[in-house]
Amino acid sequence: MNLNLSTIKYAQKLPFCANDREVLDSDNKVVHRNSTKFFRDDIIWDDFTLFLDENFKDSKKVNSYCIACSDGSEPYSLAIALKTNLKNADKFFPINASDYDEYIVNEAKNGVYTTTYDEKNAIRRFTRDNKHKYFDCDGPDIIKPKDSIKKEVNFTINDALSEIDNIPYGDNLIMCRNFWPYLSSDDKNKLIEKLKEKMNHNSLLVIGSFDQGGIMLDRLLDVSGFENVEYTRNDRGSEMVHYNVWKKHS
Ligand SMILES: C[S@@+](CC[C@H](N)C(=O)[O-])C[C@H]1O[C@@H](n2cnc3c(N)ncnc32)[C@H](O)[C@@H]1O
Repeated sequence: MNLNLSTIKYAQKLPFCANDREVLDSDNKVVHRNSTKFFRDDIIWDDFTLFLDENFKDSKKVNSYCIACSDGSEPYSLAIALKTNLKNADKFFPINASDYDEYIVNEAKNGVYTTTYDEKNAIRRFTRDNKHKYFDCDGPDIIKPKDSIKKEVNFTINDALSEIDNIPYGDNLIMCRNFWPYLSSDDKNKLIEKLKEKMNHNSLLVIGSFDQGGIMLDRLLDVSGFENVEYTRNDRGSEMVHYNVWKKHS
């Protein structure tokens, strides 16, 4: 089921980022926010991609998904981090990215971003000071992922629960970050059960800090047959980054 636009009273842009959009229903209740950014810092991207390499070393093909991808900053960040850190990044492509909000998926396909100060720093760091390899730039603030990055990501409009039905059982990387608090209790449980059906012993589920902070999703996963995976090479970053990568219990 896609977002029912008839229930939406209005959507307003929040001031601090290009696509930071808040969608409200007719009772002024927040339906969701599209907040996202390049290299969102609840994952340590370099460690994460090196961990992916090791975890999937025996896989010929990894099915990669970004569920609730918002404006595409997340799947494009993943594509860039994979290309920067791995010799064999191709097996992770394409990244199948989806969101149920048609407006934001169109923004993602369009691929024009106004960057914040934080994003600029992160992009500089994670591209090893080589942002022109991955982006065309229009002035100091506007970036556009190059075709060599865009071609690695396929965007579709889809609700998270329907999207999981499209995933084959197998070696799956499922980024499912920072949107769980918007789901009903029933849908959270359904999503967890569906994820378990699609994940084998190699598969990884990645959640975000908003999911932990908002609904303590780490605890729910813990009692629902998942185990936390330590992917960082050193004990660094905030505590949150350590509880974001999960596997199914063997
Ligand atoms: C806060 S953004 C997170 C974006 C990105 N995953 C990240 O971590 O930066 C939440 C996104 O979830 C999407 N969303 C909310 N409920 C959804 C659902 N049931 N199915 C698909 N997308 C959903 C919203 O449209 C929004 O773009």
